[in-house]
Amino acid sequence: MRRLGIIMHGVTGRMGLNQHLIRSILAICNEGGVLLSTGERVMPDPIIVGRNAGKLEALAKEHGIERWSTDIAAALANRDDTVFFDAGTTQMRASLIARALDAGKHVYCEKPVSDDLHVAVALARKAKASGLKNGVVQDKLFLPGLRKIAMLRDSGFFGKILSVRGEFGYWVFEGDWQTAQRPSWNYRKSDGGGIILDMLCHWRYVLDNLFGAVKSVSCLGATHIPERFDENGRRYRADADDAAYATFELEGGAIAQINSSWTVRVRRDDLVTFQVDGTHGSAVAGLTRCWTQHRVNTPKPVWNPDQPQSIDFYRTWDEVPDNQVYDNGFKLQWQMFLRHVLEDAPWDHTLVEGAKGVQLAALGLKSWAERRWLDVEPLGI
Ligand SMILES: NC(=O)c1ccc[n+]([C@@H]2O[C@H](COP(=O)([O-])OP(=O)(O)OC[C@H]3O[C@@H](n4cnc5c(N)ncnc54)[C@H](O)[C@@H]3O)[C@@H](O)[C@H]2O)c1
Repeated sequence: MRRLGIIMHGVTGRMGLNQHLIRSILAICNEGGVLLSTGERVMPDPIIVGRNAGKLEALAKEHGIERWSTDIAAALANRDDTVFFDAGTTQMRASLIARALDAGKHVYCEKPVSDDLHVAVALARKAKASGLKNGVVQDKLFLPGLRKIAMLRDSGFFGKILSVRGEFGYWVFEGDWQTAQRPSWNYRKSDGGGIILDMLCHWRYVLDNLFGAVKSVSCLGATHIPERFDENGRRYRADADDAAYATFELEGGAIAQINSSWTVRVRRDDLVTFQVDGTHGSAVAGLTRCWTQHRVNTPKPVWNPDQPQSIDFYRTWDEVPDNQVYDNGFKLQWQMFLRHVLEDAPWDHTLVEGAKGVQLAALGLKSWAERRWLDVEPLGI
């Protein structure tokens, strides 16, 4: 069987390990490799690279991975490995990807591509000019909940889409009286933290692909919890934004409002929910499930604060059935990228799209700082 050598960096981290190494690459290996349109299968052969030899060796041993290294330059110099992947820190990403492109590797990486728009644009230009295959993770598009929304849209269910309401977030513990469930760098500006950079690059591709290209943005950020405790129990100043309240105007006329917050307690269907209201029907999607209400099933509430509510609104929605198997979204996107590398299969999630995500985050931060609406201009890459 043909092999495909993949250099994987940053897979000792939260995302790299769980989503990319275990649930994507190792899962694909366990299934017998990537299936090409010819019926041929190609087996990924990962080499995991990073700083800490002890951690890499233990990880390799635990998962039966034969190759690991702390020498990135040597790994990049190996002509038998043709793909480079990064899920390390946001700030190291662009320079690593640039090095990999210089070494002639096809590149794939986590978002955001960079915390700096100019760097993200320069990298996308470099990748485009190289002719090498390139891509960025756009995992939310592959969530079952949002795939069901796409199916509803394509079926004409919504009629004209009027508005989209997104609620993302949950309470991230401060780290003292309960340990935090996210890394501390997320809350420090100097380490590439902040929810606007983290989430607006997701909302760019979600809105662009599902509801209409983002035309303009107004964003108000906040740092609600200014002090947290890190992985070693040390107090630190959390100077990055931990909540963002953003509104977007979309091509086609829909208006999207998305709240993103690490300082919110959940009383809704899921950690992220999107409500889409259209002239003919509405839908609410979480990560996996999706409920609809058609115009003919819409109840007619009458405002009367003197009477307790008589309608159980949750019961007036129908669930979209799981008529197909929804595989892990990260794995699906990996399979698409590997087929793009191996047989030039169609691929939309390039580093140009990654730069667009960074652009929206940069505009969100600017809108907050200047307290005004900003237009999204073409990047011209
Ligand atoms: N697609 C998504 O939904 C999603 C979710 C979370 C994080 N991410 C992105 O994934 C990336 C990693 O996030 P995470 O939550 O896994 O973080 P993490 O802190 O758990 O992992 C960071 C990784 O980078 C490595 N690293 C840190 N400092 C380093 C240094 N100085 N030199 C070399 N390696 C270093 C760590 O060893 C680890 O492997 C970030 O860019 C983040 O934005 C994406």
